[in-house]
Amino acid sequence: MSENLKRTFLDEVSSLKSLADAANLRVKYLGKKGIITAKIKSLSSLSPEERRVAGREINELKQFIEEECERKESLLKSAELKGRLLAEAIDITLPGKAVSFGHEHPLSRTLREVVDIFTRMGFDVQEGPEVELDCYNFEALNIPKDHPARDMQDTFYISEDIVLRTHTSPVQVRVMEKKKPPLRFIAPGKVYRCDADVTHSPMFHQVEGLMVDKDITFSHLKGVLIAFIHQMFGPDIPVRFRPSYFPFTEPSAEIDMGCILCKSAGCRVCKGTGWLEILGAGMVNPKVLENVGYDSEEYTGFAFGMGIERITLLKYSIDDIRLLFENDIRFLRQF
Ligand code: PHE
Repeated sequence: MSENLKRTFLDEVSSLKSLADAANLRVKYLGKKGIITAKIKSLSSLSPEERRVAGREINELKQFIEEECERKESLLKSAELKGRLLAEAIDITLPGKAVSFGHEHPLSRTLREVVDIFTRMGFDVQEGPEVELDCYNFEALNIPKDHPARDMQDTFYISEDIVLRTHTSPVQVRVMEKKKPPLRFIAPGKVYRCDADVTHSPMFHQVEGLMVDKDITFSHLKGVLIAFIHQMFGPDIPVRFRPSYFPFTEPSAEIDMGCILCKSAGCRVCKGTGWLEILGAGMVNPKVLENVGYDSEEYTGFAFGMGIERITLLKYSIDDIRLLFENDIRFLRQF
């Protein structure tokens, strides 16, 4: 009878798979309502003689079951620990998770380079509002009411006399109004024109430059801008000054540099001319100086303006300005 019980128990022990099952088995045999516990209780119904024999037998069985349970439990425990360690193992040969860094947008980079070059030449940095009064954007810059630049097609009007600035030149006027010469600054910022195609965006960036002092001549203008182009694009780039017209400078020039893409041989980008236009400039029109209360007999100056998008497109051979604003990560990663 107890041999049968022992065999059944051994079968059950050997098929145990987990510590939880082992705990259940222990309860089944040794718990308060367990098989062995019941047998011990039933001893009381036996005669003293029978009880002695049966008692010893059941106690031996109980001890055996306890030992077996313990043995099995410690086996299961170490097996489970081993399994857990294996599952939690860290493969130190796997490559680490790289932290990805962002980087400067190509436009920010061009702007920073331009600012760096001019600050090294002693220019400081000024700013002005993007929503601008008509009188600063046009009138004070000697752009009369009937000038084509004021056409509704080009200018975003907020009201009759408030516009989104169409260039950074109004910053010239704002700074001159506040300060006496000598002046030497650049003014980077956003400008707006109602225009959009592969080379024009309704919002773009310009950097204005202004230098006013006694005895400033066209030679200073040439020296500063040639130095700028050589630092920005390379010391061997040819530069030429072409007569042009701006209402706020006189004389005015457009400045071209040798095409960096075809090395002046002529290509699609320079339209076969070998030259790329990159700056507008000129000697500050005496009328502009008088408008801000400067004595144009005593002071002269030069001014220039350039487009940051245009320089960026040329520098990196990008053929569509919209790429600079779409922020497609596959495009930006290339810089
Ligand atoms: N403001 C002019 C433009 O937007 C550029 C310029 C600036 C020309 C200063 C001459 C002097 O086209």
